[in-house]
Amino acid sequence: MTSSSGRRFSGRVALVTGASRGIGEAVARQLAAPDTHVIVNYREKLKRARAVVDGIVAAGGHGSVLGADLADETACSAMVQQIAADFGALDVLVLNASGGLELGADTDYPMRINRDAQIRLTELALPLMRPNGRIVFVTSHQAHFHDRVPVPDDYVPVAVSKRAGEDALRAMQPMFDSRRVGFVVVSGDMIEGTIIVRLLQRRDQEAVDARRIHGDLPTIDEFASAIVAAATGPMPQDDTVYVGGQDFLARIQELSCTPSS
Ligand SMILES: NC(=O)c1ccc[n+]([C@@H]2O[C@H](COP(=O)([O-])OP(=O)(O)OC[C@H]3O[C@@H](n4cnc5c(N)ncnc54)[C@H](OP(=O)(O)O)[C@@H]3O)[C@@H](O)[C@H]2O)c1
Repeated sequence: MTSSSGRRFSGRVALVTGASRGIGEAVARQLAAPDTHVIVNYREKLKRARAVVDGIVAAGGHGSVLGADLADETACSAMVQQIAADFGALDVLVLNASGGLELGADTDYPMRINRDAQIRLTELALPLMRPNGRIVFVTSHQAHFHDRVPVPDDYVPVAVSKRAGEDALRAMQPMFDSRRVGFVVVSGDMIEGTIIVRLLQRRDQEAVDARRIHGDLPTIDEFASAIVAAATGPMPQDDTVYVGGQDFLARIQELSCTPSS
């Protein structure tokens, strides 16, 4: 983006998908800094996305909104072209937007948004990414471990499609390496205060209680901090960062140590 002097923004450029609310909003706000321009992507909620950018600017950061339904190939491609025209490069891509629980969504929608759209955006954005850039894929423990843990019925298509997206992105690692771009997956337990958990609580209180029984769930800000650290801090030793759900992770560890009969 050019300033009034005609010069392009010279600092870090970060795109956060689905940053008009929830976890993406918190990530966008935490990424904000005087040397960083945060592009707040949204699908429908322009007013909310603008409010996020206003908050970033009021706190001394730089930001702009860029709407695109990521499931729409043309819109996604136009978004990346706009970033190329405005900034010429990208340093951070946070793949946060997700879907599949929307009322009336087609049965193939979870795969389209959680796998196909994530791959397409990553392929389109990668040529813009500067060396030492970072791509972070945001997921849930119930998606990451969906084949080993019980998942609420409504969430199964989302869990399966998010894991398919994660696997497809991991398969792109040689492309990331060749451009010296880091790739990190950040997986979280249910996150307190999100709309998804509030909805689930109405439909399946037991599923939420089953997670809360082990202690407080991570908050939106705690999860967002881990995502921001993965996006801007030193490359983590492990390419997967887990937030919350220690009981859950211990159980997975136990299962992987138990010899199958
Ligand atoms: N909630 C949890 O407990 C939890 C736990 C672990 C991991 N996660 C992960 O964290 C991420 C964010 O979750 P959340 O609960 O904050 O989600 P959310 O409240 O449902 O917010 C979704 C965001 O994604 C945007 N979005 C939805 N569909 C889109 C599309 N087709 N194209 C572009 N943007 C789209 C929405 O934009 P509009 O506002 O314009 O509709 C919104 O900004 C997801 O990847 C999720 O799997 C969540």
